[in-house]
Amino acid sequence: MSAQGTNRHEETLREFGLGEEDLKAWRNSDLPEEAFVDWLTDRVARRPSGSRAREVYGAEDVHGFARRPILEALALGPDDHLLELGCGGGLLLREALATGAAATGLDHSEEMVDLARERARGAQVLLGKAESVPFPDDTFTAVAMSIVFFFFDDPVGVLLECRRVLRPGGRLAVYTTGPELRGTPAAPEPLASRGHFHTDEELAELARSGGLHDVAVENDSGGQLLTARA
Ligand SMILES: C[S@@+](CC[C@H](N)C(=O)[O-])C[C@H]1O[C@@H](n2cnc3c(N)ncnc32)[C@H](O)[C@@H]1O
Repeated sequence: MSAQGTNRHEETLREFGLGEEDLKAWRNSDLPEEAFVDWLTDRVARRPSGSRAREVYGAEDVHGFARRPILEALALGPDDHLLELGCGGGLLLREALATGAAATGLDHSEEMVDLARERARGAQVLLGKAESVPFPDDTFTAVAMSIVFFFFDDPVGVLLECRRVLRPGGRLAVYTTGPELRGTPAAPEPLASRGHFHTDEELAELARSGGLHDVAVENDSGGQLLTARA
């Protein structure tokens, strides 16, 4: 890579709170220059890795703005079994356990699975993909997704999986970022270019196409809370 390319990448990494360890990881990846934005998207949010990612996703305040409305909407209790897709550092799982519910997390980042197992002791946390949930039909009473829906190339496929593993009447709560926040600190470029933004109406339609009912979308300054039932 040219010195100019290195400097540009260093600057971009710094903008995302990343540093020397991450620059080394990029260099060691041996990926071609055109793969940098995808690599960065993975490293920061889509498949987080590195010490900065563990710090961010293990921090109490991270994504509390999404966790709170999800937990409020699901109103979990001791009779519930929650599945969280893209569970990251496991903070939502930990709060679910505190209600007396059973909690299961799924994430495709090995580092996030390790972190969630540390943070949410008592939860079952598995390495796996939201597109192919490794559980039989009718396993869960609730499904949550916090700041991950944006990354799905096949959102209806994931919602069909949610409906499949939810018991009839089971609740779904998804918090994601609306198109009005594209390019803001909530969805900064170049990561935003790798995501999928849906208007409130599109989000509701995706849920209906996933076989869910009682679909509602609340939008609070661009933060979208989708709720539905199986
Ligand atoms: C931006 S982080 C959010 C983590 C956590 N839910 C939170 O709110 O802090 C997105 C998480 O979803 C995971 N993820 C992204 N796409 C996924 C997929 N297709 N299947 C499973 N996990 C996925 C990532 O590895 C990452 O841990």
